[in-house]
Amino acid sequence: MSAPSPSLSDRHLLLGVTGSIAAYKAAPLVRLFKKSGADVRVLTTPDAERFIPALTLGTLSESEVLTEIFPENEEGSWTKHVTLGQWADLFVVAPATAQTIAKLAHGFCDSMLTATALSARCPLLVCPAMDRDMYRHGATQDNLERLREIGYEVMPAAHGELASGLVGKGRMPEPETIHDRVTEKLADAPEAVPGSHAQPSSLEDTSVLVTAGPTREPFDPVRVLTNRSTGTMGYALARAAADRGGNVTLVSGPTTLAPPDGVEVIDVETAEDMNEAVQARRATADLVLMAAAVADYTPAEQSPTKRKKNDDDLVLTLRRTPDILKRVGERKRSDQILVGFAMETDTPHANARRKLEEKNLDWIVLNDLTEDGAGFGPSTNRVTLLSREGTSEDLPLMPKPDVAEAILDRVLAAQESDS
Ligand code: CTP
Repeated sequence: MSAPSPSLSDRHLLLGVTGSIAAYKAAPLVRLFKKSGADVRVLTTPDAERFIPALTLGTLSESEVLTEIFPENEEGSWTKHVTLGQWADLFVVAPATAQTIAKLAHGFCDSMLTATALSARCPLLVCPAMDRDMYRHGATQDNLERLREIGYEVMPAAHGELASGLVGKGRMPEPETIHDRVTEKLADAPEAVPGSHAQPSSLEDTSVLVTAGPTREPFDPVRVLTNRSTGTMGYALARAAADRGGNVTLVSGPTTLAPPDGVEVIDVETAEDMNEAVQARRATADLVLMAAAVADYTPAEQSPTKRKKNDDDLVLTLRRTPDILKRVGERKRSDQILVGFAMETDTPHANARRKLEEKNLDWIVLNDLTEDGAGFGPSTNRVTLLSREGTSEDLPLMPKPDVAEAILDRVLAAQESDS
């Protein structure tokens, strides 16, 4: 019987090591990763060398340890942060000092480690290590919260004796604990998550129509019926499509978001307005991405004047709005790609697949609201992608821009393999 393949076989791991006493634990961590079959590259901040020699980490990882973005005597190698960021399946920062956490939270890129974190398309796992009061400080806690909002995972610091002699929370989790979490994370994401290392597929000469945001259905000049959509997912899709060279039109319900560069934005308010704007443009679109949270009902009557409160109860009669996506599906060109969204709480997969079929879609992006992190959250999302061909892929919790890239990657790869 052959031995089971190691849990991290052929995985590409970046390990960021910063200037903390816990840096000595980076050595056994590298060994554990290597033993599990991973290909490991180590990036250190300049202060890390005070605690652990690059020679140790370089020997154990069998690869050169990188610290500076602009290394002396190495012409032309300054783009390594970009290539490493694309190469990695996962970037672990362990130990992560308060200083590096602050830099990561605010987008500083003054070392190979921080610059690579900004370039990386893979998930990041941050393992804080510092003294108790530094860890508890509001500034550090705010920075850790910011990292979570960006979509990084933060492993809670462990409780115990600290280098200062104090006892409390602040210890780096043990290498075995980090190793196990890394294995779990990568097992959850069998295909290296977004940014599958290749150059993204181009949308040049492609006309893309995107809908985003909520709609607002007025029942008098002051009041409206609406929903909690922020428009972030649709805007991320429009931006990602424009970045790939697409001619993008974004039909947007009311949001507070800035128009993405290079995108034509058509502002609408009601479902009826959105329907008009979409139907006028659908015939010429090659790719249609309908992320808007369209109101299904609108007040049957609108009062021209502000309704006064008279009775204890107010009864509004609502009537159905047009199903914009369904109409686009009914008139779909055979070479057109149609992607819808579904927001579900009950039997999510079955409902999403039914919508895919009823609306004649090629893909549907399912937000299962019973899952943590899915839906109208501010900056991250967890979705499942279902295709007309019957495939279903769960994507992990990711920043919405990465979800947008992953959706485009999957949709365009399927189209390329068809043609
Ligand atoms: N949609 C649309 N027009 C509507 C309602 C929905 O174009 N009047 C689109 C949404 O943009 C989304 C998809 O249809 O891409 C599914 O939306 P969702 O709200 O999940 O489902 P509904 O079709 O409205 O069905 P239900 O509310 O019954 O779940």
